Amino acid sequence: MFVCLFFSFVVAQAGKNAETLQPVRHANVADGQRLYAANCAACHGEAGQGAPETTAGFQRPSSFPDFTRCDQTTAELDTAYKAVILHGGPYRGFSQIMPSFSGVFTVQQVGDLVAYLRTFCTNPHWPRGELNLPLALGTEKAYPEDEEVLTGRVNIQKSSGAEFHEIHEQRFGVKNQIEIDTPLMFERPQQNWYGGIGDITFGLKRVMLSSLRTGSILSLQGEVVAPTGNYLRGLGAGTTTFGTFAMFDQLFPTNTFIQFQGGGNLPVDTRKAPQNVFWNTAIGQSFAADHGLGRLWSPMVEFLASRDLVTGAKTDWNVLPEMQVTISHRQHIRGDVGISFPVNDTVGRPRQLMFYILWDWQDGKLTEGW
Ligand code: HEC
Repeated sequence: MFVCLFFSFVVAQAGKNAETLQPVRHANVADGQRLYAANCAACHGEAGQGAPETTAGFQRPSSFPDFTRCDQTTAELDTAYKAVILHGGPYRGFSQIMPSFSGVFTVQQVGDLVAYLRTFCTNPHWPRGELNLPLALGTEKAYPEDEEVLTGRVNIQKSSGAEFHEIHEQRFGVKNQIEIDTPLMFERPQQNWYGGIGDITFGLKRVMLSSLRTGSILSLQGEVVAPTGNYLRGLGAGTTTFGTFAMFDQLFPTNTFIQFQGGGNLPVDTRKAPQNVFWNTAIGQSFAADHGLGRLWSPMVEFLASRDLVTGAKTDWNVLPEMQVTISHRQHIRGDVGISFPVNDTVGRPRQLMFYILWDWQDGKLTEGW
């Protein structure tokens, strides 16, 4: 029933503000260039790197953009640029030196300007930020991130237990990202709580294909899970595990999206932990206040399947409805909360409350962008 409600909600919202949320299409770059020279170059420089401070007449904020730096610009959404051009810097928690051009330009002209800004980055291989779909609670996304994520899952049924992860994700080069996941586990099988650090994961992600035109991105990840958790206490697998998986994400023109993740885990010592394969799917819809430029809400539902490769094992299914929302004006701090429901094989598999807080640290400090 939850799922039906969710979908009727999604269908009702879909397409409402698809237009502004979408990347710029059918823009006239020559018009954008003309508008830029007349209205922006005095501060941002003819070459997009910023006018000299002596002529610009202001001190550059630390977040002042250099539009030629692909590493800084490609992760930014067209809508983020449109929002700042239309409503001025403070709309996204930037400096008020960046003026509002609301009433000055038409929507088409803002699109033309953004298309022109995009020409300053000349390397087309950087995956575009539009393909950075809302992170789901159970399904890893394909886009490489510069993020700090704090996640939690708490049993709300059966035995008491909770698990928290601090996940550090950092891009390098055009298409790569490393990841370090440190878990903290708490359990109370009988009377007493005990807890400690779990198995730490080191991961490497690489984008294989990405296309803003088709809205698709495909990545591969390899990981090593080190047996840092206490095996005897049940806080770790007690053996090193190698994991590998593929992620494919698709964004549709209505801002509906689907994310797939499939792969396997291969423990070195299969007497301690079984080999396992999994297949995760997240389906969601983003919609934003203020004609697609304001706070972004992304309801999702995930279908999570996992199977241990031992004789007689069942495929465990979970359904996980959730909601992600942007918290800061800059949208670099986001939260997500949902409940994971085991659908079958429910013995020893409790319902869990799941949540995260995410900080895209490339986009600003924790204290900035409010
Ligand atoms: C009076 C100087 C000034 C003018 C004129 C100006 N800008 Fe800006 N702009 C700034 C400053 C300063 C910032 C950085 C704000 C910050 O980082 O806090 C900025 C930031 C931006 C950003 C945000 C980049 C990001 O990181 O998200 C965009 C996009 C932008 N300007 C586009 C334009 C365009 C297009 C024009 C012309 C239509 C324009 N600006 C005109 C000063 C100006």
